Amino acid sequence: MTDRDELAERRRKHLKLIHFNREDHTFVETEKPNVTFDDVGGLEDVKKRIRLSFILPLKQPEVFAAYGKSAGGSLLLYGPPGCGKTFLARAVAGEIEVNFMHVELQAILSMYVGESEHNLHDIFAKARENKPCVVFFDELDALGGSRHQMRAHHDRMLVNQLLLELDGLDNQSDNVFIIGATNTPWYLDTALRRPGRFNHLVFVPPPDAPERQKILELKLAGKPVDGLNLSAIADMTKHFSGADLEQVVQDAVDSAMERTFETGEIQPITQKDLLAAVKGRKPSTLEWFATARNYATFSDVNRDYQVVLDYMKKHGIK
Ligand SMILES: Nc1ncnc2c1ncn2[C@@H]1O[C@H](COP(=O)(O)OP(=O)(O)O)[C@@H](O)[C@H]1O
Ligand SMILES: [Mg+2]
Repeated sequence: MTDRDELAERRRKHLKLIHFNREDHTFVETEKPNVTFDDVGGLEDVKKRIRLSFILPLKQPEVFAAYGKSAGGSLLLYGPPGCGKTFLARAVAGEIEVNFMHVELQAILSMYVGESEHNLHDIFAKARENKPCVVFFDELDALGGSRHQMRAHHDRMLVNQLLLELDGLDNQSDNVFIIGATNTPWYLDTALRRPGRFNHLVFVPPPDAPERQKILELKLAGKPVDGLNLSAIADMTKHFSGADLEQVVQDAVDSAMERTFETGEIQPITQKDLLAAVKGRKPSTLEWFATARNYATFSDVNRDYQVVLDYMKKHGIK
């Protein structure tokens, strides 16, 4: 092991996962779990895009400089709920060896005037203290989309603060990198979408059949099962999100537990349980696609959402 390897190893061991606490607005630090792209089932196109637009520029800025491309900007993951945005963001942070700060936007929001902005400022300060650091703003939907006037004003101030902080970042020297995630990118303030801000849009689609099978396997791991054919279930659950599949497994577990209480003996989860659970659930992504289509068709001046329309066409979503 060379000195360099050793240093890398040591650094990896001490990487932190920092969470901004919703209740008392403090930071909680734990050791960062080492999740990488290998832990994310499928989503190969998405990974490729993220590598090109985000990871490589950070790892080899000189290549980008040689072609006159700047390595700045942040990643914005969007797509139907429950399809792996949060999951993926964690893995991105694992691909580059940096600290990871997970911020759910709801946690920043405060009813007191000025406090939300203050929280945001603290977050960027904390990130600089812990650089290199990825700050992940999850649930950006909480910004905007509100029609209530007081809230709208509040949101405006928070957006301004976010712009201020983003523009104050110098990617080269600060080593603070930003990832955002939202189900509703079309509500995001356009100012947040300019170059150097959340300018790399990445669509995270619902899982395909092999991905669905993998998710089902993950969710059933360690539970008592009997004679399951998960590939058949995966084929039946077109358009289901990861979260929908989690619900299906949960429903099947409930049935098996009911039998267990009736018989007094541990009953395995059967294919029949899963089939009944699938029948009782509808894919939640279709509603998202219907909304997305409106924005993609009628107000997508930059053709940001063409990839969503292409996906819908390819997968027969009407
Ligand atoms: N490609 C995938 N591979 C493995 N698990 C996945 C995948 N996509 C989603 N999941 C699972 O589905 C659930 C929802 O994912 P999450 O990242 O919370 O969705 P989102 O942030 O897009 O709303 C998680 O429990 C996650 O483990
Ligand atoms: Mg999420």
